[in-house]
Amino acid sequence: MKITDSIHYVGVLNPNLRVFDIVMKTEYGTSYNAYVVNGSEGSALIDTSHLTFFEYYLDNVKKVTDISKVKYLVMNHNEPDHSGAIAKLLEINPDITILTSQAGSIYLKNITNLPDVKYQVVKDGDTISLGDKTLRFMIAPFLHWPDSMFTFVEEENVIFTCDFLGSHYCEPQVLDTKVPYKNAYEVAFKGYYDAIFGPFKPYVLKGLEKLATVDPDFVCTSHGPVLTKGGLLEYAKEQYLKWSTPQVRENKLIPIFYCSAYGNTGLIANAIAQGIKNIYPQADVPVYNVIENDMDKLSADLNASDAFLLGSPTLNRDAVPPIWSLLCHVDAVNIQKRPVALFGSFGWSGEACQNLAVRLTSLKTNLYPDMFKVTFVPSQTDLENATKFGEEFAKSL
Ligand code: FEO
Repeated sequence: MKITDSIHYVGVLNPNLRVFDIVMKTEYGTSYNAYVVNGSEGSALIDTSHLTFFEYYLDNVKKVTDISKVKYLVMNHNEPDHSGAIAKLLEINPDITILTSQAGSIYLKNITNLPDVKYQVVKDGDTISLGDKTLRFMIAPFLHWPDSMFTFVEEENVIFTCDFLGSHYCEPQVLDTKVPYKNAYEVAFKGYYDAIFGPFKPYVLKGLEKLATVDPDFVCTSHGPVLTKGGLLEYAKEQYLKWSTPQVRENKLIPIFYCSAYGNTGLIANAIAQGIKNIYPQADVPVYNVIENDMDKLSADLNASDAFLLGSPTLNRDAVPPIWSLLCHVDAVNIQKRPVALFGSFGWSGEACQNLAVRLTSLKTNLYPDMFKVTFVPSQTDLENATKFGEEFAKSL
């Protein structure tokens, strides 16, 4: 599909995909977007495709350029959904030079398993001429990998942003102006942001600033619709700005998450919450029974918290699965140094807190040195001590 006279979409649609990269639900499928820029002195490919779809990708490329005339392959980042077909492409034209960031160059050999990949490292602001078309590179680290960059075609006012502003949304019409189900797109766009860019909000704000320096007419992403000025581009930018701008909170958020087979760990949770409130009366201290709440809400509160507590009984020498499941949703990039404390009621052996401590230490949280553990049913004294434990933890913050 033509984006401009010299730029074509050559991506591959995958409408039936329902899980992407193991962890992302893709209710609306996805697309592996790729592009060709044709200049008077040669062509550049922007990204390849997932290896599985190489033949489709190649067919599309051949419709708009002669592979033997392709001089460059721009790898805006090297995740295998875009880099998986590089080796196959180089079998057809080994003279293609890969343009990549410094960080991206490190892994090209491992991605292709070819001994002599021809590549050229580009830096922020560097340009490459295709004759009457100029590619300008904008390094955009952590959007969303360390090697990410944007590529801007100066004469066309078109930018290729890789995953930035993308979505797992698949429609045969490539342009955002043709998206028929706006609500579905908005859901897909938010889900994509949360999963891919949620951990990198400060970098998202820098990415928006970079985008503003060129004010493009088209933003060609690597998944989902191509965004256009006057189409969904303004919406997409506004949402990224809103979701990435730090929220100023007046009061501390200190959620307590627990599971409780017979109500004992639950009693401790509420007693600890009282202790925290004694020290910080204004603090928001929600007490969540993990199995009675939506995991998205729980993980959102955990990741946004100033500090948090986890309580688990011990079952078969371990913490219970819902608590582990919650820890699987931790934003490991941003959880470092977060204060956290552990508690639980147990019978017999009582390994839950200790096992959770190992995981929280590996996440580099700031683990409170004391754990509050009670054997079986907490007495009145135990509950008073739990309140004191909450007070002491709160004072440590
Ligand atoms: Fe679509 Fe980060 O790869």
